[in-house]
Amino acid sequence: MAIDRSPLFVHADAAALDPRDELAAGLLQPVAALAPKYFYDRLGSALFAAITELPEYYPTRTEAAIFERHLGDIAQALRLRLGAGLTLIDLGAGDSAKAARLFPALPLARYLAVDISEAFLQHSLQALQRRFPALEMVGLGLDFSQRLLLPAGLVRGPALVFYPGSSIGNFAPADALRLLREARELAAGGGLLIGVDLLKPEPVLQAAYDDALGVTAAFNLNVLRHVNRLLGSDFEVADWCHVARFDARASRVEMHLQARHDVAVCWPGGQRRFVAGERIHTENSYKWGVHEFEALLRDAGWRDLRCWTDPRDWFGVFLAFA
Ligand code: AVI
Repeated sequence: MAIDRSPLFVHADAAALDPRDELAAGLLQPVAALAPKYFYDRLGSALFAAITELPEYYPTRTEAAIFERHLGDIAQALRLRLGAGLTLIDLGAGDSAKAARLFPALPLARYLAVDISEAFLQHSLQALQRRFPALEMVGLGLDFSQRLLLPAGLVRGPALVFYPGSSIGNFAPADALRLLREARELAAGGGLLIGVDLLKPEPVLQAAYDDALGVTAAFNLNVLRHVNRLLGSDFEVADWCHVARFDARASRVEMHLQARHDVAVCWPGGQRRFVAGERIHTENSYKWGVHEFEALLRDAGWRDLRCWTDPRDWFGVFLAFA
């Protein structure tokens, strides 16, 4: 008998902050800051996809190679420990391409794709459901950057929380700890499969976040256009330049936008003046050591850790159980 499924879509963001309040508050801080989630409007998502193709940006292809090489081991560890019938919870699913590569190997009953953009999920899940008609699919529009809490009833039985791409690196360690604890609650006795960018020589990091073609610069500057649309502000892209620098003490690459000259920016109900050289902080991308990340996982309550890396130890894929 043919199974004719279609994905279910759920929106769970009623309690989210109004982006205008969040953006204005960020711009009015002593050191202005914009949350990295605002990079990802339509053009920003396309620019990020272009970044992942750059020779300098190693994380995406390095992680994919680790999965390609070790998926058999990962699937076996999951089967032995959790059995079949898992729900895969894909955090920041986007086009679901990374999760879809796992489907044939993992003992899944259900796929729960979570992303800030429900519109994006609508598009990608319809196509994915046609490729995997037997798998139950749910798309959930949710901004989990402040709190990872899913509507009741979406997770049945043990789940595998999947958080690839080193997006955990965009959280400060205390926030990463909180997110990993919340992920453990979600997993309901299941597991976590997470990709983490590791510490490596500074020139490699510098090039990855300041590439020769200027794609990362365009990605960083594009946030200003997104903010203009959301907040009604009047940022001029030409007034700003991209800055990326590695802070060894904090073990993070920081991205900023730096005013090329004195700039005044206005929006309904607010304004800010920036002097030449003043910066807006747009992103941190933390780089972890394997032992440090394992300690963080343990702190968050995860146990029985395994880690697979590439031959240069540039990227780690960690498996852990609740
Ligand atoms: C999504 N995130 C893991 C990327 C990173 O490497 O921190 C975002 C990015 N920023 C600049 N290039 C890529």
